[in-house]
Amino acid sequence: MQKLSCITCGKKFGINENHVVCECGGLLDIIQPIEELKRLNLKKVFDERLGSRELPNASGVWRYRELLFDAERIISRFEGNTRLYPSEKLSAKLGVELFFKHEGENPTGSFKDRGMTVAITAGVNAGCHNFVCASTGNTSASLASYCAAAGLPAVASAKVGLNGIVIIPNGKIALGKLSQALAFGAKVLQIDGNFDAAMKLVNELGKKFDSKNPADSIYVLNSINPFRIEGQKTIVFEILQQLNWDAPDWIVLPAGNLGNTSAFGKAISEAFELGLIDRKPRIAAVQAAGANPFFKYFENKWKKFEAMENPETIATAIKIGNPQSFLRARRAVEETNGVVLEVSENEIMDAKAEIDAAGIGCEPASACSLAGIRQLVANGKVKKGEKVVGVLTGHLLKDPDATMNYHAGKLTGIDSARANRPRRIEASVKAVLAAIK
Ligand code: F0G
Repeated sequence: MQKLSCITCGKKFGINENHVVCECGGLLDIIQPIEELKRLNLKKVFDERLGSRELPNASGVWRYRELLFDAERIISRFEGNTRLYPSEKLSAKLGVELFFKHEGENPTGSFKDRGMTVAITAGVNAGCHNFVCASTGNTSASLASYCAAAGLPAVASAKVGLNGIVIIPNGKIALGKLSQALAFGAKVLQIDGNFDAAMKLVNELGKKFDSKNPADSIYVLNSINPFRIEGQKTIVFEILQQLNWDAPDWIVLPAGNLGNTSAFGKAISEAFELGLIDRKPRIAAVQAAGANPFFKYFENKWKKFEAMENPETIATAIKIGNPQSFLRARRAVEETNGVVLEVSENEIMDAKAEIDAAGIGCEPASACSLAGIRQLVANGKVKKGEKVVGVLTGHLLKDPDATMNYHAGKLTGIDSARANRPRRIEASVKAVLAAIK
């Protein structure tokens, strides 16, 4: 049986005690019963579930449920099962064996669905009706969808259905994400302030949680919630299974609030301890240079973590100055002999254009992965021939403005070196033939 354990004071709780954070305010970890799990032939169990048409096995999250937690009723949208694309062209260019794991292929277009299915399942099983998150966009789209998918209208009275509440920075959410949250029927609350201000508000709401009265409390679904981390571990499990349990040398991902970095570290350590893999991939967590508090923490050798006041980047998903999971994420980097990088706006948009032009596509934040891989190859940290997985966290259509403005050459400070401009032509065959020469 899994347990909850505080990473700050060490206090333990039962897995069903529905705590999101510890009484001391510290973040909680879910401790997996590794010795018990070692007795199961997990590789075989997971492989046998592939191709299943029905839940829970058909979900690319719940397929790994022994490594998550047991739930009576799961709220699932058949999430996960995202593709791992070999990238031949870029592999040849960079001299490595490169794959893209496309988490934008999840039901709402981002990796958040993997954490959301597990955390909302935990909340619903604990008797909660009201769910809240602060978000730069993707978490809000995911929360809204899963509240609706629970079979109940998200905006109905809390007593009747699930009440999905999302708190977002006014005017700073990419169009695709905001439209999803509205369409799925969440209560969308826009504040004057950035993600960090929204997160602060959610932390205050979370403190009021009364485990004796879950129905009238508000359950927090940000990645401070340890069940979110468990769900997101399955990105790594699925990568390993897709590579036939032959671990890559590196897994590279964008880093904002640092939930995903934490989840990756936990997944790698557990897979290694369980003997699912015989070596640990190294994590490279990549931040935008304008929103880089974790990069600075790494650079000063973990001496001091300092939150940033006014983070700024075109990759709005990771425009975060005060990441909540920096301690867990530090552990993930340390345990995997990992690194933290920063990349410029130009590097992000250039990498995005390259991923887009490969026919795969992603939103700006996701392109940090390729921008980071390029740096690691250039400075020799990634060696020739190594196997590298870049994680694409969100779909191209999440942020159509960033793409359109890039191709129109309208982004200040960005070269738009790979711009593909539309051309207006006369409506004639002659004009078409002339234009495509
Ligand atoms: N990539 C995308 C597309 C994201 O939406 C996020 C986070 C990240 C990367 C970073 O992941 O926060 O776990 O380090 N988006 C959150 C949101 C903050 O509200 O949707 P992280």
